[in-house]
Amino acid sequence: MAGKQPLRQGEKILFGMVIAFVAMAVVSYVILEVIRYRSTKPMYAVTTHFDLSAAGQRGSQLFRTSRCTSCHRAMRNGTNMGLSLDAEGSRHDVAWIYAFLTDPEKTYGAATVDHGAAPKEAAHVMYMDQGELMAIATFLSELRSDQGSASAPMPPAGKSEFIDSMVKTFAPDDWKDKYSDVRDPGQQPASIPKEVTGSEQ
Ligand code: HEC
Repeated sequence: MAGKQPLRQGEKILFGMVIAFVAMAVVSYVILEVIRYRSTKPMYAVTTHFDLSAAGQRGSQLFRTSRCTSCHRAMRNGTNMGLSLDAEGSRHDVAWIYAFLTDPEKTYGAATVDHGAAPKEAAHVMYMDQGELMAIATFLSELRSDQGSASAPMPPAGKSEFIDSMVKTFAPDDWKDKYSDVRDPGQQPASIPKEVTGSEQ
């Protein structure tokens, strides 16, 4: 029977490195948690907000009981796997959201994956009670995000040299003729609420 072989030099170094990495990860995690636990300030800036009306509150409840949360997430409810609907109210107004829920493909103007007639996975949504869908649309329209944050459709207010330089570097010249800049007045998509774009269209 083969006896225990001593570790070779290379194996010792390799195991040592693995142990050092794991130890570093554990120590950093403990430090992070201690700082987080002791800090009175939130670690990340909160950029999404909600201020629910009575209809919005009913919609929020329906959102959780109508299987929306198996694909979506909003206000800390639901899954991280699908489309997050936090800030949906900054992307679209209540009329657009209601139109989408009742007639998804026409409102999207493109083929959808899950919303739409059976056998699509979320087919039950468009056949729900219209009053319930309106309450859900109201709820989603009350989920807002700060302009310029990652979940907002509009870039930060004012001129940004950073964005200008990124556009200059990455956008091919002929895009200037093909596409309009959402930062220019009057160029925001019509379904973005006016108080978000700040423009009168
Ligand atoms: C089976 C998964 C699934 C379920 C269940 C589901 N959705 Fe969706 N939802 C999607 C997907 C995927 C999209 C993107 C459009 C598409 O391709 O269908 C979407 C898009 C949306 C949008 C448009 C978002 C945007 O800005 O483009 C809204 C609003 C929405 N869902 C609301 C709901 C509500 C409310 C419910 C519950 C009543 C629900 N969804 C249930 C998968 C789902």
